[in-house]
Amino acid sequence: MPRYQLDKWTDLYANRASLLRSSAIRDLLSVTEREDIISLAGGNPYTKDFKMNKIVEATTETMLSHGNAALQYGSSEGQVGLKKHIRALMATENIMVDGEDFIVTGGSQQGLDILGKVFIEPGDVVLMEAPSYLGALSAFAGYEPRIVSIPLDEHGLVVSELEERLEELAAEGIKPKFLYTVPNFHNPAGVTMSLERRHRVIELSQAHQLLLIEDNPYGRLRFEGDDLPSLRELDENVVYLSTFSKILSPGIRLGWLAAPHPILEKIIFAKQAADLCSPTFTQRIVDEFFKQNDLEDYIAQLVQTYRRRRDAMLESLDEFFPDEAEWTRPEGGFFLWVKLPEFIDTTEMLADAISQKVAFIPGRAFFADGRGANFMRLAFCFPNEEEIHEGIRRLSDVVKDQITLYHSVAGNLKLKSE
Ligand SMILES: Cc1ncc(COP(=O)(O)O)c(C=O)c1O
Repeated sequence: MPRYQLDKWTDLYANRASLLRSSAIRDLLSVTEREDIISLAGGNPYTKDFKMNKIVEATTETMLSHGNAALQYGSSEGQVGLKKHIRALMATENIMVDGEDFIVTGGSQQGLDILGKVFIEPGDVVLMEAPSYLGALSAFAGYEPRIVSIPLDEHGLVVSELEERLEELAAEGIKPKFLYTVPNFHNPAGVTMSLERRHRVIELSQAHQLLLIEDNPYGRLRFEGDDLPSLRELDENVVYLSTFSKILSPGIRLGWLAAPHPILEKIIFAKQAADLCSPTFTQRIVDEFFKQNDLEDYIAQLVQTYRRRRDAMLESLDEFFPDEAEWTRPEGGFFLWVKLPEFIDTTEMLADAISQKVAFIPGRAFFADGRGANFMRLAFCFPNEEEIHEGIRRLSDVVKDQITLYHSVAGNLKLKSE
């Protein structure tokens, strides 16, 4: 069947289908899988160091001992053995939960989609950080919310702005459905919410009965500084999501979601409708893997790898990038966020970057309202230090060309007007 076929079914689609589309950016980024391109674009964790033989051992043991169960449907809430390991993992972040307080999801992305399904009616107000995680923007967009954006600065969500928006909305008689936030090593901004702001967000949520959704995929990947309490640790009413994607593998598609019981009940029904259960096969393998291996050792190793890559990116930016650019200095996670002069549009710049064999994600993708044109997200998780150094060198040439071009055009215009 031809790939670009005339769409004869347009009168059948639901309105929401028009909200689900592949962006031009995604189409451009599909070329970044080419070997000759250094991709600073995707948030792909580094898995090449991974001890494949340990996964092979865990898989073999699973199939020999529990093969039938691994090939069967399982409970919608998640496999009991795996949930014990997740509880232990959450306890390392001071989140004390029982097995009934959370479920296993098909990655945290599924948790986000289900939250949209359970909470959002078309036109409902949802509060999100600006910039925000692209996948959350698209998961919620399908349910047609009105997104009200709260800015971020180097200390995370600007809480005074949150307070103002909440008061304005209350004055209009509008109750937002929830605030979605990534407090640790933000995707895409790389910033972390300060302790003081965490307490203030909790106070505001209590004063305004605002449901908080905390998404924490990167929390365990801290390179420096002290761990901060999660919002869920500060208040049990917070809905909390996390995932194995960044600390083990995104290919296994396993995450988890903790929520107060009435909410969790609705989420379980929605999950049953979506996929009946998360993959039993990978849940069993990960359960077995944790019986055989210490995840903490592996996380410690990952932290070292990612710290070196973050350092390589920061050093390369210092070495090559022009003075007109600014960037964040993440204490963990995968990303940093670069601000370029306002006359640069990073969406337009991407094609030039790709022709120079380097890729990034343009800032506009992370805003609900088309802002962010002069920002870009750089990921240091996947390429090694040499590739990062070379990638930033290539990218700096593209940025410098844009600056030179702007000044020469602006100079010519000035001459003409004189
Ligand atoms: C903030 C955030 N939330 C959720 C996800 C989705 O993760 P998963 O692979 O568990 O679906 C990602 C992945 O990049 C992310 O950065």
